[in-house]
Amino acid sequence: MTSLILSPRLEAMAPSATMAVTQKARDLKAQGRDVIALSVGEPDFDTPAHIREAAKRAIDEGETRYTAVDGTPALKAAIARKFSRDHGLDYADDAIMATSGGKFLIFAAMLATLREGDEVIIPAPYWVSYPDIVRLAGGVPVIVETKASEGFVPSAEALEAVITEKTRWLFLNSPNNPTGAVIPKARLAEIGEMLLRHPHVWVLKDDIYEHLSYGEAVTTLPAVVPALKERTLIVNGASKAYAMTGWRLGFGAGPVPLMAAMRKLAGQATSNPSSVTQAAGVAALDGDHGFLDGWRSVFQARRDLVVSKLNEMGLDCPTPGGAFYVFPSCISVLGRQGPGGEIGTDGDFCLQLLEETGVAAVPGTAFGAPGHFRVSYATDTAALETSMDRLAQFVAGLG
Ligand SMILES: Cc1ncc(COP(=O)(O)O)c(C=O)c1O
Repeated sequence: MTSLILSPRLEAMAPSATMAVTQKARDLKAQGRDVIALSVGEPDFDTPAHIREAAKRAIDEGETRYTAVDGTPALKAAIARKFSRDHGLDYADDAIMATSGGKFLIFAAMLATLREGDEVIIPAPYWVSYPDIVRLAGGVPVIVETKASEGFVPSAEALEAVITEKTRWLFLNSPNNPTGAVIPKARLAEIGEMLLRHPHVWVLKDDIYEHLSYGEAVTTLPAVVPALKERTLIVNGASKAYAMTGWRLGFGAGPVPLMAAMRKLAGQATSNPSSVTQAAGVAALDGDHGFLDGWRSVFQARRDLVVSKLNEMGLDCPTPGGAFYVFPSCISVLGRQGPGGEIGTDGDFCLQLLEETGVAAVPGTAFGAPGHFRVSYATDTAALETSMDRLAQFVAGLG
C-alpha cells in the first residue's frame, strides 16, 4: 500500500486543540445527550430578510456566472461606501478586494508577502487560525501575551519589544476572538505612533467583529493614525455583523500593490467569491443596519449574565467590550479532582465539563492562553442560563 506523504508545511501545523471538545460534543449529541454548545463562533440569529431577498433576486436575474476575481463593481462600490461611512476612509477601487470569507483574505495576504523565516507578531489570546496561517505561508509567529488584569489589551511597549528586522506584520484584532476585548481608541493611537518608528512593519487589522461592540464605537487603525494607511490591511467580512457565516464573504482594503498581489493569488486559488453571495453583500452593506441595535442589546444582556455567573463561581472573568465571547480563567480549579480524575489543564477542565454536564466550551490553550476557556454567548438565553447552572454545579462538586 502506498502511504500518503504530507508536505513539511502541513506537518508543522499543530493539530487543532478545539477538535477534541468539538468531536466529543458531536459524539455525545449522537448518543442522544443534551449538549449545550458554548463553543460556536457564529451569531445564533438568521441572516436578515432583505439580504436573503437580494440573493434570491440575484439567482433569478442570472447573476450566476464568474465575476471579477476581487468582486463585482457593485460590491466594491458598496465596500468603498462602507469604509467612508464608518471610518471616514477613502479607498479607490483597486485598493479594495472581496474574497470567499475573511479567512482567505488573511491567507492571501500572508502567502503573497511572507518569505521563509519572516516574523509576524500576534498578541495572545489570538484567533486559532492566525499562527497556522502564518506558518503555512513560511512565516514565524511571534506571540505577545496580554493580561486579563489589563483586559487582554496589548500595550505599545510590549509589541515594540519584539520587533526585529525580520518583523513583517503585526496582527491586531479588535473586538477580539476569543476574549471579546476592544482596543480603546487611545491605545490604538499609542500603538500606531509606535509603529511610525518602525516603517518596515505592516499591520493586519482584523475588524470582523466591529459592529458587535457594546461600548465605544470600534475605530480602525488608519482612521486613528492616517500615515499607517499605506501599510495597513483592513480585514473585514459579512460573517459576524450580518449573521452570514455560511455565505462566505470577506472584504478588505489596503495599499494598492498589496491588493494587486492578493488578487493575483486569489485568481489562482478561489477566483471570485460566490456571485450570489456578492449580491447579498451589496444589500447587507448598503441596507438598513437598524437590526444591529436589537442584536447588540440581546448580546450585551447575555454577556452581562455569563460574566456575573462566572465570577460568582470563582472563575475570574473580565467584562469585554465586544464580539460574543468571554474568556474566564479556570486556574482556580486546576489540581482539583473531577469525576473523571484530576483536572490538570484547561483541556481536562473542558473535557470533563462536557462529559459530565453536556456543556461544550473551548480550552484556552487553543488560543495561546492556557488556564482559560472560551465561552460563546451566541446561543439562546434560556440555554445560557441552564449551562451556567450546570457549570456552577460542576465547579461546586469538584474535590
Ligand atoms: C477574528 C476572526 N477573524 C476572521 C474570521 C474569519 O471569518 P470568515 O472567514 O467567516 O469571514 C473569524 C471567524 O471566526 C474570526 O473570529
